[in-house]
Amino acid sequence: MKIAVVAMGKIGLPLAVQFAEKGHDVIGVDVQQRVVDEVNKGNEPFPGEAFLDEKLKKLVPAGKLHATTDYAEAIPGADAIVLVVPLFVNDETWEPDFGWMDAATKSLAEHLTPDTIISYETTLPVGTTRTRWKPMIEEISGLKEGKDFTLVFSPERVLTGRVFADLRRYPKLVGGLSPEGTAKGIAFYQQLLDFDERPDLPRPNGVWTMGTAEAAEMAKLAETTYRDVNIGLANQFGKFAAKHGIDVYKVIDACNSQPYSHIHRPGIAVGGHCIPVYPRLYLWTDPDATIVRTARQANMTMPQYCVDEAAAVLGDLKGKKIVVLGASYRGKVKETAFSGVFPTVKDLADAGAEVTVHDPMFTDAELAKFGFTAYHIGEPVDGALLQADHPEYKDLTPADLPGIKVLVDGRHVVDPAKWDGVKVIVIGDGEA
Ligand SMILES: NC(=O)c1ccc[n+]([C@@H]2O[C@H](COP(=O)([O-])OP(=O)(O)OC[C@H]3O[C@@H](n4cnc5c(N)ncnc54)[C@H](O)[C@@H]3O)[C@@H](O)[C@H]2O)c1
Repeated sequence: MKIAVVAMGKIGLPLAVQFAEKGHDVIGVDVQQRVVDEVNKGNEPFPGEAFLDEKLKKLVPAGKLHATTDYAEAIPGADAIVLVVPLFVNDETWEPDFGWMDAATKSLAEHLTPDTIISYETTLPVGTTRTRWKPMIEEISGLKEGKDFTLVFSPERVLTGRVFADLRRYPKLVGGLSPEGTAKGIAFYQQLLDFDERPDLPRPNGVWTMGTAEAAEMAKLAETTYRDVNIGLANQFGKFAAKHGIDVYKVIDACNSQPYSHIHRPGIAVGGHCIPVYPRLYLWTDPDATIVRTARQANMTMPQYCVDEAAAVLGDLKGKKIVVLGASYRGKVKETAFSGVFPTVKDLADAGAEVTVHDPMFTDAELAKFGFTAYHIGEPVDGALLQADHPEYKDLTPADLPGIKVLVDGRHVVDPAKWDGVKVIVIGDGEA
């Protein structure tokens, strides 16, 4: 097959590589010239994806994969088009921002030729494939879905960094706009993917039909929203435990020792591209989902909760030197999308604290770009809030943060035994 992949990002590029490795002729489209140039040189345009660079170095010179900024080169005559351009959510209104997706869909539709299967893999609000993309593609291309082309939705469920392993590990979920469309989508992905044996699954691992695009859209939103809600519950249990002298981690480990309990862990923030975003995409079409809304709102209050915990020890935070440890949204990734660092710094600054930020993965200049003042280990502070579970933080001791009186460990990372003379507050550990 000739396959066009729209967006050469952290997901689209590994997908393009996977399809090329299966023997198809793949062309990637991206609006960024730099990304296209790097791919065409056989270089990975971003670090951190296992096996990506070595695979590009084989497939690009072999002529199996190349990239372009020109939709007119990529789309006409393609047997299949896979689109994975990001969709954003407005942090204030919680409304989806379709800007990039609309632009990509228009460009695709302008160059579409008959007999193509189009698969959208971007996480979408339920119903978007049928009610937004189908009419948009039909109107611009003049072609008819179900007759001239097939449109399906198949969510991408992999984690960046281990895309090739996850593509084998997780079932590929597919739903079309008709039974025929779904069947074509299943047959399409069966030619692209190989799967690990998964005896733990209720069906053999492979391409799973979801029946409709809506069911496939909902599956991705549901599996991610579940995690946000679960963390919301863990946070609630954690706050209660802290007040009652209970270590919630002991409680959670005990609960999860039988197979019906899967309680996540409390924490200062839920960050990243996915988990704080998808509940809001879900709420867009199910605004009455009170459990989802409450959990999302509750998780957003956690940075303030941690600031209040510090203030309970230090008193008025005005003029107090507080360092936020970790700019990343989680340990070991250099990524700040929806990171808890932003609300934590804001809440501390609103309380009048002199706030600095430390992160072993970011330079001072990179932190300055976010408006943060960089902290260097060894500088005096009154308090610290641990925001990201970078492994380096496990071994911190009070000597690294001279003058520290309180450490709010928002990720349950440090060993309180090493923190003699300092009040260590672990979210959810009333024993700490
Ligand atoms: N990143 C993840 O961990 C992850 C995991 C599962 C699913 N997803 C899904 O994949 C989507 C994409 O994520 P990503 O991490 O690959 O994003 P990314 O930010 O790494 O890459 C997006 C790419 O899209 C390109 N782009 C923007 N507008 C375009 C247009 N009009 N035409 C062509 N290309 C365009 C950008 O230049 C960029 O290279 C997410 O929105 C999500 O739905 C992501």
